[in-house]
Amino acid sequence: MLEVLDHPLITHKLTLMRKKETGTKDFRENLDEIAELMAYEICRDLPVRPINIETPMGATTGYELSKEVVIVPILRAGIGLLDGIRRLVPTAKVGFIGMYRDEETLEPHEYFAKFPKNLDEAIVMIVDPMLATGGSACDAISLIKERGAKNIKLICLVGAPEGVKAVTEKHPDVDVYLAALDEKLNEIGYIVPGLGDAGDRIFGTK
Ligand code: PRP
Ligand code: URA
Repeated sequence: MLEVLDHPLITHKLTLMRKKETGTKDFRENLDEIAELMAYEICRDLPVRPINIETPMGATTGYELSKEVVIVPILRAGIGLLDGIRRLVPTAKVGFIGMYRDEETLEPHEYFAKFPKNLDEAIVMIVDPMLATGGSACDAISLIKERGAKNIKLICLVGAPEGVKAVTEKHPDVDVYLAALDEKLNEIGYIVPGLGDAGDRIFGTK
């Protein structure tokens, strides 16, 4: 399943991020705000269970989240989406996957992995701003599945058709959420029009 969350506020903030003159501070702040807006939409279908409570006026039945949420940013750039989602789901646990893309081959290389327990019971949200060839996302999803996860959502900001195809073909059971589906990849594997190198723009490394 692919869902493009093209809410006007998300699109407006994403347009600010795309502009080449937008600096690190504004880039990061807009990413953080978009993450929160996307999370609000994506969390619509989180399961709840009934719970008996007492209000000051008497007994009633309320509802509480019935499954643990685990957010897994793909380092580095995925970190930029973490706080915005955590503001809405403050009880979420956090795992990490360190992965970088070889600039020549575009192949992903894993360098770090750390997860909370009981991934098999949780709703796991893998987050990364960019879905380009889809290599990093596909490997991250495989890694999470090896650790037992069954309910996985992939949340990215900008996707290329190539990346969406790769993920939905290899992992048809994973729900994919984007803020925008862009036109294509260029000859060096960057998304066009995209927003450039997300990690460098978040952390000011170029
Ligand atoms: C970027 C991005 C994704 C990956 C997408 O990370 O954040 O993880 O590339 O490309 P793909 O879909 O072709 O695999 P990068 O490897 O540049 O690392 P960084 O986050 O440390 O900058
Ligand atoms: N990684 C990025 O940061 N940007 C792209 O356009 C593609 C991969």
